[in-house]
Amino acid sequence: MPDFDTRVPHIARIYDYWLGGKDNFAADREAAEAAATASPGIKPGVRANRRFLGRAVRYITEAGVRQFLDIGTGIPTADNTHQVAQSIAPDTRIVYVDNDPIVLTHARALLTSGPEGVTDYVDADVRDTGAILAEAARTLDFSKPVGVMLIAILHCIPDEDDPYRLIRSLVDSVPRDSFLAITHPARKQENVAGRGEDVLNKSFDQKVTLRTRDQVSRFFDGLDLVEPGVVPVTEWRPDSVLDLNSPWLPIVGGVARKPLCPGCGNLPARTLASGNRWVRTSALPQQPAAAYWYIPRTVSRPAEMSVVSHTMSETACEPVS
Ligand SMILES: C[S@@+](CC[C@H](N)C(=O)[O-])C[C@H]1O[C@@H](n2cnc3c(N)ncnc32)[C@H](O)[C@@H]1O
Repeated sequence: MPDFDTRVPHIARIYDYWLGGKDNFAADREAAEAAATASPGIKPGVRANRRFLGRAVRYITEAGVRQFLDIGTGIPTADNTHQVAQSIAPDTRIVYVDNDPIVLTHARALLTSGPEGVTDYVDADVRDTGAILAEAARTLDFSKPVGVMLIAILHCIPDEDDPYRLIRSLVDSVPRDSFLAITHPARKQENVAGRGEDVLNKSFDQKVTLRTRDQVSRFFDGLDLVEPGVVPVTEWRPDSVLDLNSPWLPIVGGVARKPLCPGCGNLPARTLASGNRWVRTSALPQQPAAAYWYIPRTVSRPAEMSVVSHTMSETACEPVS
């Protein structure tokens, strides 16, 4: 039997309850109902979050990625990461990571791969990125692009544990053209807790920290955000009436690609809005041959580049030595 106390509400089981699942106990249901009463957007928010997960995995798989590291897996429900990815590319390999024993027990039983792909499970705390990466390397090839998913987990990491640094170490460990997908329960204002957040923090020992859209955007610093950027999850490439007709819900998310410079191997010094590309300076007038500019998608002709390049000095890579 896994080692957990059913009298203490837990985020994985509260979330399962909000999604309509059955793997939860009285204490979880009580805390879940109290938070949902204080913040009625929570239940539709977590359902919209699951739909975002499906769309993000589909987007990343269609971009050619065949490996996923899904941290903060949650209790299995419909359309889990491997099901969505393997429905498009059956050979996709997925490593699930969670630190809740009940999640891992269910995951081992239910998150089973199709015959051409692989799924594996790592029992680890997201803060222990070294252990996660070492164990995931049994299944994933970190020389090839990886889709790193942190869907509705970073609110479990308080500021004092520096969630930005842990994201950076994950991003640093994956190669160019990898993707990072994050969703995060949102606050409207920095340092002002919402009522649902207060209720959750009073009812269980694990602290939750909601963040504003700007604070969530910072997780993507240096990466190339896929359009439409960091937005309420219902607005991220919606494909169902449930999202298209949704009111504002308190959860935001985004997907970004790691755009390492082909010349120097560094990230661009500054991230442009989205959809950018690297262009060798030899293609541009009056520029040294060995550097790359990181230019907006909208700039397509060399003549236009020569006009804008002077305003883009922050986005040039260091010349290759
Ligand atoms: C709200 S659920 C999200 C589940 C799933 N990603 C989704 O969006 O449907 C958060 C999950 O993160 C896990 N979790 C919370 N804190 C964690 C930590 N420090 N390390 C690893 N997993 C954690 C919980 O056990 C839970 O399964």
